[in-house]
This record gives sequence, structure tokens and C-alpha cells, in this order.
Amino acid sequence: MYTQAMDTLPPDAASNVAPLRSAEEAALQARFDARIDAGDFIEAKDWMPENYRKTLTRQISQHAHSEIVGMLPEGNWISRAPTLKRKAILLAKVQDEAGHGLYLYAAAETLGTSRDQLTQALLTGKAKYSSIFNYPTLSWADVGCIGWLVDGAAIMNQVPICRCSYAPYARAMIRICREESFHQRQGFESLLTIMTQGTAAQKAMVQAAVNRWWWPTVMMFGPPDDQSPNSAQSMRWGIKRVSNDELRQKFIDAAVEQARVLGVTLPDPDLQWNAARGAHDHGTINWAEFWQVIAGDGPCNRERLAARVDAWEEGAWVREAALAYAQKQVPEALAA
Ligand SMILES: [Fe+2]
Ligand SMILES: [Fe+2]
Repeated sequence: MYTQAMDTLPPDAASNVAPLRSAEEAALQARFDARIDAGDFIEAKDWMPENYRKTLTRQISQHAHSEIVGMLPEGNWISRAPTLKRKAILLAKVQDEAGHGLYLYAAAETLGTSRDQLTQALLTGKAKYSSIFNYPTLSWADVGCIGWLVDGAAIMNQVPICRCSYAPYARAMIRICREESFHQRQGFESLLTIMTQGTAAQKAMVQAAVNRWWWPTVMMFGPPDDQSPNSAQSMRWGIKRVSNDELRQKFIDAAVEQARVLGVTLPDPDLQWNAARGAHDHGTINWAEFWQVIAGDGPCNRERLAARVDAWEEGAWVREAALAYAQKQVPEALAA
């Protein structure tokens, strides 16, 4: 998963532009700008403006945290999956998300912030993660909806990041996007199985889950373009390639057709095809809810963070054992 609002900065951050310090730095800046304009990729060892580094560190680490926190709502259903096949698929999917988190932490570390610093920022609530994972998974159909809608939205968001100007992030995203496609399909197939073979009560369970997940998923693309002032800088730097509203529109247009195949209704009475625009119009998004969840006051924010803090504390012995083992290996390696 799961960028969203990853370019959402604190209100004072946009004006936080450091003045250039020297002619040498101005020359480096000019060379960097020319490389970006030419569509070059920037590697970890290359010179980059401090704000480019900071913006990427924040975005990639928020993305990594989202993958890790994103394991929690679905992990909740591993022990209650309805069949062995569904359990095996869900286990593999949740493990994929852990892997995505690890690729992304590694990409963020190339920018000079340690894994421990990134982890502490999450555990102390300083760093954000995608708002979507602060919603509960109340039924088995919620797991299918996360695959179909949430991973589907993630793909829309993440495919353009495969062309991000920062090469380590772009490389991580190419691998991640391949796996996200599998996630989206397994979610859709799981829901389709219920909708074509299930009882009336099971079909109603799917519809109820769609009703819960639709609007939070639409919000995943972040605030509207006219309220996303930092997007312009990210676009200039080649970190962001497509605007929030354009991505949201692409997602909605694709989801309408998929909902028709599934036989579910999307909970937006204003959703209709606009022939003049060649796209679907949609109802008003509740941005007050979005900002409330981002601010830490969604349905599960406290529960999610507490689960991560517990995992960190309960894993202390694993880190200590791994460190002790690694220290023992070093002298042997040197002797060999
Ligand atoms: Fe993922
Ligand atoms: Fe995923």
C-alpha cells in the first residue's frame, strides 16, 4: 500500500526553504534542477537540496509506516479466515506488506535517517501513516474490501511513483506495485465468490463492508488539489507525477465498473457518468472526517499505535539476541 496525503505537510513546512549558502551550492542546485528537468534519476550519493531530502524522507517513511500499520486490520482476520485457502492467501498478503515496509525503510535510510529514528518517529506519534488503517475490520468482507478498494487505490497512487526522481524509491515501488496487483485481485475475487455463491446474509455483509470502506478509500488520495499547496513542489521535483484529484478520478472511474461486476452499490447517490467530462461526478467528500483521522482521532488510531508500541517492546529480546549473534559472527568472519 499506501500513499495518500503523503505530501501533506505541517502548515509551516512550505515556507521552510533554506537560503543558498554559497556560489558552489548554487551551482550544485542548478545542476540538480537541470537533471530533474531532463528526467534523470537521483541516486543516494548524488547532491540534492536539503528540502528534497527532507520531503522524500518524510514521504518514504510515512509510506513504510503505512505498510507496517496496514498489516494490523487484516492480521486481525488471519485466525478467523473462512477456509484454509483464504487463510494461506491472507497470510501471504500480510507478509507482503511487511516486506513492502522493509524495502521502504531501506530506501528511506539511504537518505541518511536511521531505521531506529524512523521507528521512534512512528511510535511516538510524530510520523504519520495512511489514515485508512485507522478504520476497523468488522467482518470477513472488510478483508476483501481492503484488497479490492484500498490496495486498488494504492496501485493508482503508486504506479506513478515507479517513475519518481529518487531512484531507490522508484526501484522499491516497481517491486511493490507487482505485489499490490495480486492484493487487489485477491480482494476482488474473494468478494466476487461471496457475491456469486454466498447466502443473502453474506451478500449483505459485503455490501455493508463496501459502505464502510468506500469514502475512507476515496479520501486516501489526499486533499483536493486546490488545498494541497505542497503538491506543486513535489511535482517540480518529480516526486509526485499525477495530482490527488486526477488519481482519485481514475480510481472512481475504475471502481464503478468493478462494483457493477461484483453486484454491489457504491454508497454515493451523486455518483454518475458525466459525458461532457468523460468521467464520473461524485458526491461531496467529508474532509472534516479526513482531517480528524489524520490528527489522530479516527476510530482506531490509539489501538493501532498501541499495537505497534507493544510489538516494539515485546520484540526487544529478538533485537538483543540478533545483535549478540551478529557480534559473535564478526570475530569469526575476521579470523576466516
Ligand atoms: Fe503494500
Ligand atoms: Fe497491499
